[in-house]
Amino acid sequence: MTPILHHSVILWDDSENVSLVSTDSAWREALEHWFHQNSRELPWRDDPTPYRVWVSEIMLQQTRVQAVRPYFERFMGRFPTLSSLAEADQEAVLKAWEGLGYYSRARNLHAAARQVMAGGGTIPGTVDELLSLPGIGAYTAAAVASIAFGVQKAVVDGNVLRVVARFQAIREDVRAVPVRREIQSWLDTVIAKAEDPSAFNQGMMELGALVCVPGTAKCGVCPVARWCEAFRQGLVAELPLRRPRKTVPHYDVAVGLVRHQGRILVARRDDASMLGGLWEFPGGKCESGESPEDACVREILEEVDLPVRVSERICTVEHAYSHFRITLSAFWCECVGDDAPSVRCDRPTRWVAPEELAALPFPAANHKIFAHLGPPFPPGLRSETSFNPGLR
Ligand code: ADE
Repeated sequence: MTPILHHSVILWDDSENVSLVSTDSAWREALEHWFHQNSRELPWRDDPTPYRVWVSEIMLQQTRVQAVRPYFERFMGRFPTLSSLAEADQEAVLKAWEGLGYYSRARNLHAAARQVMAGGGTIPGTVDELLSLPGIGAYTAAAVASIAFGVQKAVVDGNVLRVVARFQAIREDVRAVPVRREIQSWLDTVIAKAEDPSAFNQGMMELGALVCVPGTAKCGVCPVARWCEAFRQGLVAELPLRRPRKTVPHYDVAVGLVRHQGRILVARRDDASMLGGLWEFPGGKCESGESPEDACVREILEEVDLPVRVSERICTVEHAYSHFRITLSAFWCECVGDDAPSVRCDRPTRWVAPEELAALPFPAANHKIFAHLGPPFPPGLRSETSFNPGLR
């Protein structure tokens, strides 16, 4: 691969031992200084306690800063301390996460909070200890350790990779494991000399979010442009190398709001599944050539063993998940036959009054259905968050 240590020189000391002396200090200091002058005011930056930094970094995985902001503030209002989070029911935690997506983050954060409380209640400050907690990988461990505890460990994510690909004019795929590993170890040597590892890491993130953005980078305001190889070589617009986009699969999905005596049937998703722990209306994917109405009736019979008929279409909405898109049709359904419908399902189910639905966590796609129903149904989510994995 292209050597990535453009900014280091090798010097010989008097005893003729070879030592690597880095010239990285100049740009590192420029970046830290720029971060102090230009960082955005973000709620988790005011008071970077280990708990607040941890929660923010988990929320920021796969999710943009602007989407996280209101969730973070509400979450802190609801669970201001680690112990309050550990003591909460999982359902309350999922409710506070509702709409933010990637719900395994909330389940893991909750489990990790319980684990830390069981071990004495102190959030660990080393990368290795943080890595042992559910939901914390290399990026988050480095972010929490550096921001909350001043540990000199570099963060490497999609934004940082883009910055480094340009800064070092790397023509390889920076997501490839060996290249990424080399970038990590180079940045670790840079941050090892940082007086303020938090400012260095957050400076890299901020640079990627505000200046060295995808597409047209704002090199005119970049604090490290004069050390940037891509800038020097006129390659900024070409780097990082783009991989062809994968086509995103699309599914037609049909769900039923089954009514009986003013109540509606909901089922809880398995913890281990996507959207695990959230509630949903029964239904599923349409088979090839099958109408959404037929799919709705068939899926409800298969899922909860309940014969229903479709009485009315409520809406058809589009929704994008991280790896696929759906067209979701929702129908009012009535039970057929029996007066007292019996449901058989291997997951928890409930008949709930419309006004009770607001207390349960639902996936964002279901909130799009609520938005078509009006009171006494929940109003739908206040804001649609947009997910863009890898970019923040
Ligand atoms: N993305 C991930 N962590 C972040 C942070 N601490 N500040 C801004 N953007 C981030």
